[in-house]
Amino acid sequence: MTTTDLPLLVLGRGADPGSERGVDCPGGLPAASDPGLVARAEAAKAALGERVFVLGHHYQRDEVIAFADVTGDSFKLARDAAARPEAEYIVFCGVHFMAESADILTAPNQKVVLPDLAAGCSMADMARLTQVEDAWDALSDAGLADSVVPVTYMNSSADIKAFCGRNGGAVCTSSNAQAALEWAFEQTGTSGKVLFLPDQHLGRNTAVLKLGLSIDDCVVWNPHLPNGGLSAAELRDARMILWKGHCSVHGRFSADVVDELRARIRGVNILVHPECTHEVVTKADYVGSTEYIIKTIEAAPSGSAWAIGTELNLVQRLADAHPDKDIVFLDRTVCYCSTMNRIDLPHFVWAMENLATGNPVNVIEVDPETEKQAQVALQRMLDLPGVR
Ligand code: 13P
Ligand code: SF4
Repeated sequence: MTTTDLPLLVLGRGADPGSERGVDCPGGLPAASDPGLVARAEAAKAALGERVFVLGHHYQRDEVIAFADVTGDSFKLARDAAARPEAEYIVFCGVHFMAESADILTAPNQKVVLPDLAAGCSMADMARLTQVEDAWDALSDAGLADSVVPVTYMNSSADIKAFCGRNGGAVCTSSNAQAALEWAFEQTGTSGKVLFLPDQHLGRNTAVLKLGLSIDDCVVWNPHLPNGGLSAAELRDARMILWKGHCSVHGRFSADVVDELRARIRGVNILVHPECTHEVVTKADYVGSTEYIIKTIEAAPSGSAWAIGTELNLVQRLADAHPDKDIVFLDRTVCYCSTMNRIDLPHFVWAMENLATGNPVNVIEVDPETEKQAQVALQRMLDLPGVR
């Protein structure tokens, strides 16, 4: 996370001696102060033409979004990547798990490039394959594995998606979690369970608010405790086994601020992402993916008031694009997703110029076996009935 009460350089890439002079840094990364960065990005993109397809997640900085051929939430971008077989290169302006999914869904001859390899996701890192396999072994020992369907949020590594693929499970995103859970419970019948990875909040919010399960149907599996910290009876009685993972950006939004804003701004609508805590989501008026958030604001009447609980680059862009609506951030502190913010104009230019000279850098390649199994889980999501 990055806060504006920290020095300004923390918001960028950090200072380096070259950046003062506008000289490329060691390794060829252009200096952030280079006044020609926009022209360089335009020239590289023009030189590559149809050979490159640039995808931009809604949390990306404006300076990067300006070069995206398409923008979207993680579901839309996965579909958009799969629908561009003619592009030799997919430049993914987003985070690592999204680029991996694009690699899985594109043809073997297409290369997916992530402009900065440090653009990970702390939530995805909260579920490691060995931990998930240990949990699965414990469920098998308890005689439960046959009645459990694993469902992983897109925000997970390719090997977790592969685990779901080989164990009869699926992937979901914030825009289709309800359909994925309904599908999963159809596989297991009335006594079945879902192991939901790695975001406990998306799992709980969807199960309780969309499927009508009770909060007591949900238990949290803590991978750092023996048997997940759960008794045999708790596991036996649960319908949703939620992995103890969360998003540190969305975890900041609090129910107090919702109350405070409702008291301060007359008629304010609270619009949040389902990665927020259950308390916040329960108090909100509207809940949905980043794409849903954008569409909701676009459709809102002029003069309406909104407090939005999602990443700040997106909230700022919505406020700029809709000056006729009163749009505020649902947090007292300014906070970006620091890994999404890693992709900045210098990294974009560096990746694009290298591609233009026939030297793909930061290529994301999932190994073939993992890819095959992860593809199964992703395809189950893409085939879900009613999923756009
Ligand atoms: P969306 O699928 O809604 O774009 O969310 C992705 C994400 O990382 C949210 O933190
Ligand atoms: Fe991951 Fe949260 Fe950033 Fe989304 S906002 S990429 S879940 S850390």
